Amino acid sequence: MKDLTMHIVDIVQNSVRAEAENVVLAIEIGEEMLSIKIIDDGCGMDAETLEKVTDPFYTSRTTRKVGLGIPLMKQNAELTGGEVKIASIVGEGTEFEATFGLTHWDRPPMGNLPETVAMTMTGNPSVNLMFSCSKGEASFAVSTAEVKEILGDDVNISQPKITSFLKDMIAENLKELEMIID
Ligand SMILES: Nc1ncnc2c1ncn2[C@@H]1O[C@H](COP(=O)(O)OP(=O)(O)OP(=O)(O)O)[C@@H](O)[C@H]1O
Ligand SMILES: [Mg+2]
Repeated sequence: MKDLTMHIVDIVQNSVRAEAENVVLAIEIGEEMLSIKIIDDGCGMDAETLEKVTDPFYTSRTTRKVGLGIPLMKQNAELTGGEVKIASIVGEGTEFEATFGLTHWDRPPMGNLPETVAMTMTGNPSVNLMFSCSKGEASFAVSTAEVKEILGDDVNISQPKITSFLKDMIAENLKELEMIID
């Protein structure tokens, strides 16, 4: 079984491949549902492609015949009473949302969210990743643009010590706000 963070990496990777400059990763911890939104300003998909993306035998990849990122996440979401919704406009971008039953037995564990966000940010330095997590009134957000602003132009963000600093900073904030989910 995949962790939710592995699904997140898959979907964000789609946005990176779609040449997005900005990617939003918004996690909402509701009373009953967990929502994961990934919104990008990449190349988008036409209606025909969009219809096919939840089918495991569709991919625009030429190296491999099946695309599994979206179908696997959809299958796991549906097993928990959730769903996957995708909206896309060619040349404008894509909005992806997966919902999971928060306390459902079949919900995959979250995995290490702070580490995943930190690695996604520093591993794709030319993409502005805007991460947010909210639960009721509480919310935490951090973006690549903010991190670059704080560190200054001459600092390369793809350094292990920056990944590790970001991971600790995000973990502390999520813990403080009681947003750590297993
Ligand atoms: N954010 C996006 N922007 C534009 N096209 C997308 C986006 N996400 C998915 N697609 C299109 O949908 C197809 C299917 O995506 P999916 O993640 O299911 O499989 P894949 O990326 O092709 O392969 P895998 O995820 O298994 O490596 C992609 O090949 C791509 O054409
Ligand atoms: Mg994919």
